[in-house]
Amino acid sequence: MSDTVFPAGTLMKGKRGLVMGVANKNSIAWGIAQQLSAQGAELAFSYQGGELEKRVRPLVESLGGDPFMVTADVTDDASMDACFEAIKDKWGGLDFLVHAIAFAGKDELKGSFTHNTTREGFKRAMDISAFSFVDAAKRASALMPSKEDGGGAMVSMTYLGAERVVPNYNVMGVAKAALEASTRYIARDLGPAGIRVNAISAGPMRTLAMAGIAGGKTLMKTGKDWSMLKEDTTMEGVAGAALYLLSDLGKSCTGEVLHVDAGFHAVGVPDIDEL
Ligand SMILES: NC(=O)c1ccc[n+]([C@@H]2O[C@H](COP(=O)([O-])OP(=O)(O)OC[C@H]3O[C@@H](n4cnc5c(N)ncnc54)[C@H](O)[C@@H]3O)[C@@H](O)[C@H]2O)c1
Repeated sequence: MSDTVFPAGTLMKGKRGLVMGVANKNSIAWGIAQQLSAQGAELAFSYQGGELEKRVRPLVESLGGDPFMVTADVTDDASMDACFEAIKDKWGGLDFLVHAIAFAGKDELKGSFTHNTTREGFKRAMDISAFSFVDAAKRASALMPSKEDGGGAMVSMTYLGAERVVPNYNVMGVAKAALEASTRYIARDLGPAGIRVNAISAGPMRTLAMAGIAGGKTLMKTGKDWSMLKEDTTMEGVAGAALYLLSDLGKSCTGEVLHVDAGFHAVGVPDIDEL
């Protein structure tokens, strides 16, 4: 277990959840999974497939118990059908969902948004990074307990580029704006059923997805230097926020975008010499 996990506890005991988006040990989904597991959650993992299995399997196995892994390419309905069918067959239900999936082509994550965004690239970023949450939420909610039996919870991952212009983030910022709006619409639809739906807006973190963005290193440095805490966003902080939102600690919280970025989002002007 990594040192980004809080001491073991029982906040998620008796809860079963699907974690979508582990690619390797640096994935935000993996940080969240470890935190939830340490609190007693039982986890299923969906991963994109192909080569990824050899990186994902040892991680899942390191949690102990009976590893539950399914492939799910979110652009493929048959693959999503099979993933949720496997969960239904094995568990008969689901208490929570973690969605930590995004993709845009490298050529569209640099330079001019206006000039570099193609129709295909726009559709692909929207499909994988925003619609996939709508689709997964529909499927997951069908397996969640009634409100009287505890309802359910879902969390998606977003970034400040949804709200403000961030150089090179481009089409992904537009997709994240759609993801955040989708999170609110889904939260309203599923609220009466006792299902809470929230998003975490994390500061820049060193992952595979971040490596695809031109100037990622500068984004990381600025994210720290301009932040209120003067530190990088930590996996511990992001996973802790997920634990809050997915456990009963987060009761009454839904439709929210929770910023976990060392305070960066609230800074209007970076430090000036006269301070
Ligand atoms: N790293 C950051 O700085 C940061 C900050 C804020 C939000 N986020 C968001 O966090 C989430 C997780 O990203 P990460 O940074 O952990 O990177 P990551 O590369 O580890 O995770 C992205 C995941 O998306 C999956 N994916 C892409 N296309 C898919 C498809 N068609 N079907 C199924 N899965 C697919 C990949 O396999 C991978 O597991 C993303 O939504 C990302 O935008 C990241």
